[in-house]
Amino acid sequence: MSVRIIGTGSYLPKKVADNNFLSTIVDTDDEWIRQRTGIKERHLSNGKEGTTYMAAHAAEAALENAGIGADELDLIIVATVSADTYVPSTSCSVQGAIGAIRATCFDINAACSGFLFALHTAHAYICAGIYKNVLLVGVEVLSKLIDWKDRSTCVLFGDGAGAAVVTAADHGREGFVQWSDGAGGEVLTCPGRAVGNPWKENASETGYIQMSGQEVFRFAVKKVPECIRQVTEKTGTKLETIDWFVLHQANSRIIQSVAKRLGVPEEKFPMNMEQYGNTSAASIPILLDEMNKKGMLQPGQKIILSGFGAGLTWGAAQLEW
Ligand code: COA
Repeated sequence: MSVRIIGTGSYLPKKVADNNFLSTIVDTDDEWIRQRTGIKERHLSNGKEGTTYMAAHAAEAALENAGIGADELDLIIVATVSADTYVPSTSCSVQGAIGAIRATCFDINAACSGFLFALHTAHAYICAGIYKNVLLVGVEVLSKLIDWKDRSTCVLFGDGAGAAVVTAADHGREGFVQWSDGAGGEVLTCPGRAVGNPWKENASETGYIQMSGQEVFRFAVKKVPECIRQVTEKTGTKLETIDWFVLHQANSRIIQSVAKRLGVPEEKFPMNMEQYGNTSAASIPILLDEMNKKGMLQPGQKIILSGFGAGLTWGAAQLEW
């Protein structure tokens, strides 16, 4: 038993904030942001485009692309760190919104690796013969978790949703590696609004994303090539025969460094962070959808997806398109 992605979809908020706009709210400039990150602009929710709203739109687009109905879904997994509500889960809300009456639903939080971890979970359920059609959504409204006075983080992130429909297939070579390191988690945190016990003095003062940029950079350029090699070893595939490397879109310099460390041409690493910034769990499925719509993905191609992020979490998946 194997799995195949049979449809993709995405939703990006209409509002676009470019680097020049950000330079009017914090002490930064377009050149600094583009040189250090590759980001030129990002889409931001208008407040009404919440996590469920964007996830449901991306999900409907993916179902249409897959040519199956919502009532054919067995499972919905949503990867997000920025749900509209603690409960109900975003996946349950999406199920209600799209009418996936047969599907069971749960969310996962693996930060920017979330879509990858959701895909691995879907693979396990499908290969165990438990479910056949699974909807995966990566979605974030990071704009509500950002301190818009902090120039070291506010220039990096964006909002958006990407989705994929995964189904059982009878052939195909695939593999997964998935890692976590809780001891290293303090380099990228977001305490959230319900921080500590309000009656305790040590309750955290900020609910926003905080990051040691250089440490996250070092972690990513070490671990991503490592896990890509691990997954190709697992599947017995030569690195040079991989058609596309679809990486989490955090920073173009991270991706360039990964390509160099692997000795793979940069052209095999498509990038779109220039337009969207880092959309965390949504970045891989948004990029996959773009590639799919442009006709870049052909049947039989070997694709590696790789993500890294808070937790710390990281991993890689190899799939056949
Ligand atoms: N505009 C202008 N200057 C800025 C700035 C901004 N938006 N943000 C920080 N700076 C300044 C710093 O204050 C510092 O100034 P100083 O030298 O006077 O102290 C200088 O730029 C260098 O800061 P530093 O943090 O060393 O820059 P960097 O080269 O490491 O780049 C990141 C910062 C965040 C772009 C980079 O570390 C990075 O991309 N890390 C990975 C982050 C990431 O991908 N996170 C998500 C993972 S899922």
